[in-house]
Amino acid sequence: MHNQGDAQMLMGKAVVISGASSGIGRAVALEITKQGGIPCLIGRRIEVLKDVLLEVHKSMPDAQCYEVDLTDDKELDNLSKQLQKNFGEIDMLIHCAGVFAMGTVEAEPVERLDWQYQTNVRAPYLLTQYLLPSLRRQQGQIVFVNSTAGLAAKAGLSQYAASKAALKSIADALREEVNQYGIRVLSVYPGRTASPMQEAIHEMENRSYDSARLMQPSDVAEVIVHALCMPRTAEVTDITVRPMAKLHG
Ligand SMILES: NC(=O)c1ccc[n+]([C@@H]2O[C@H](COP(=O)([O-])OP(=O)(O)OC[C@H]3O[C@@H](n4cnc5c(N)ncnc54)[C@H](OP(=O)(O)O)[C@@H]3O)[C@@H](O)[C@H]2O)c1
Repeated sequence: MHNQGDAQMLMGKAVVISGASSGIGRAVALEITKQGGIPCLIGRRIEVLKDVLLEVHKSMPDAQCYEVDLTDDKELDNLSKQLQKNFGEIDMLIHCAGVFAMGTVEAEPVERLDWQYQTNVRAPYLLTQYLLPSLRRQQGQIVFVNSTAGLAAKAGLSQYAASKAALKSIADALREEVNQYGIRVLSVYPGRTASPMQEAIHEMENRSYDSARLMQPSDVAEVIVHALCMPRTAEVTDITVRPMAKLHG
């Protein structure tokens, strides 16, 4: 998929990836590594992150992992200091971390909305703010992993869809603000992707889970890395990617 000129785009670049302990974020970390980037893996479950790091270290010994709860402002502040100390500059930031809840407006407690707002909206906003000075110096790239739900809300998804629609707005406004510094901003809208989150969604919907029929995290990761490697004369702003096989009922 990537020609040699494209691959140079990632070679030796420091790439911060939130949600790297699982699903799409983990796949992105592995794909970035394949293309010569240096992943900085972020998540709360340090033991799981360490397993991903072990995999990454086989070809990228400079990669690091960081135990961070993205909803804790102090931890984000510490993280940005650690990243600066360990890497100097950051070239790319890929927001993959996210949480999901399902329920009607009538029944779903507002605390669940707060929880999704904290993780899906506030955390990527603040992490971007912390890393923007470096990304500016590097003419870097920022990716927001959104969701098709962020483009069209469905019954039972008011909270999650609202958080993702807000994330789209942040990405769109940010793009307008930072394009002038040579920073590219991409939103990716995946459909159902095989991951622990999607397995939990199947359970909530009383569906049997067949991961092989869904889009794979590596499919999403490939799309992201391909966009990151586009020549600097172009900017991909939005990508919708969905499973080829459709669920029924
Ligand atoms: N799977 C799908 O069908 C699908 C479809 C469309 C969009 N998406 C979006 O794609 C992204 C990745 O989803 P996924 O399916 O890969 O989910 P996943 O397997 O559940 O992974 C979610 C990741 O987010 C991290 N995370 C959650 N809360 C965090 C917090 N407070 N602090 C730090 N890290 C946190 C988790 O790490 P720790 O638990 O280690 O902290 C984990 O690595 C999400 O934004 C999701 O909304 C998924």
